[in-house]
Amino acid sequence: MKRHLISAADLSRDDALLILDTAEELAKISDRSIKKLPTLRGRTVVNLFFEDSTRTRISFEAAAKRLSADVINFSAKGSSVSKGESLKDTALTLEAMGADGVVIRHSASGAPYRLAGWVRGSVVNAGDGTHEHPTQALLDAYTMRRRLGSLEGRRVTIVGDVLHSRVARSNVLLLSTLGAEVTLVAPPTLLPVSVASWPCEVSYDLDTVLPKSDVVMMLRVQRERMNAAFFPTEREYSRRYGLDRERFARLKDDAVVMHPGPMNRGMEIAAEVADSPRSTIVEQVANGVTTRMAVLYLLLGGADLGGGDQ
Ligand code: CP
Repeated sequence: MKRHLISAADLSRDDALLILDTAEELAKISDRSIKKLPTLRGRTVVNLFFEDSTRTRISFEAAAKRLSADVINFSAKGSSVSKGESLKDTALTLEAMGADGVVIRHSASGAPYRLAGWVRGSVVNAGDGTHEHPTQALLDAYTMRRRLGSLEGRRVTIVGDVLHSRVARSNVLLLSTLGAEVTLVAPPTLLPVSVASWPCEVSYDLDTVLPKSDVVMMLRVQRERMNAAFFPTEREYSRRYGLDRERFARLKDDAVVMHPGPMNRGMEIAAEVADSPRSTIVEQVANGVTTRMAVLYLLLGGADLGGGDQ
């Protein structure tokens, strides 16, 4: 495996399968009464969050602590970033504290790549602008594999605001590496120009694609990143691209519904669909901890997993 995890494209098929298989092993340990392993004892993981997060920030912290790493949580709010300190100077400050791994979320696409040039430890991208969110794609693939078995030949449909979605890009890259067939469904205004070169199909018609799908992944409409009108009204968007009760009823019996969160309930996904037994939304959050444990363990060269309870 490479030293850093910045893009899902950094992962070969063998790398991705190793992470998913390691996460399976770690999930067995997470079911024990004492969940902690000594494997990263003495290592330091810095969680560097320049952009808001609930799931990713908490799950990286839980993952590092369950592996017995020392954890430093840095939030841009309340730090010297508000006094104008640059990303590089912030990174060098962390470097001086001896970070073995730096988990970074930043609003600027490419920030994790820049950081990787300044620090000695491994950098893990926890979401950079509209670019990538590779550990979200890993936890999504892990969740699909647990529900459906192998991803080879599985049809995954990703629906909604692809233009602003780092989750969509990372999922397309990782799922194609794992042999799944991905279709993106979105209004033309919410697709990036570069999508023609992505390893996936594109459709504008959700109702044609849904009955063939094994997985339907709904994306959040990211209004905070929209500085123009990308669709006429929220009602119109929801009517054409929302997963409502009627569309849900037309899915295959064993198809699953996913959403990376946070959700706009009632817009891209109906509340009753989000809360249905075929929704994996809560599972995705739980699987995020074990998947991120696997990433930290493999990147930071943890001791043998057979170490048992602490
Ligand atoms: N899915 C995801 O990245 O959620 P957060 O923004 O809450 O971390």
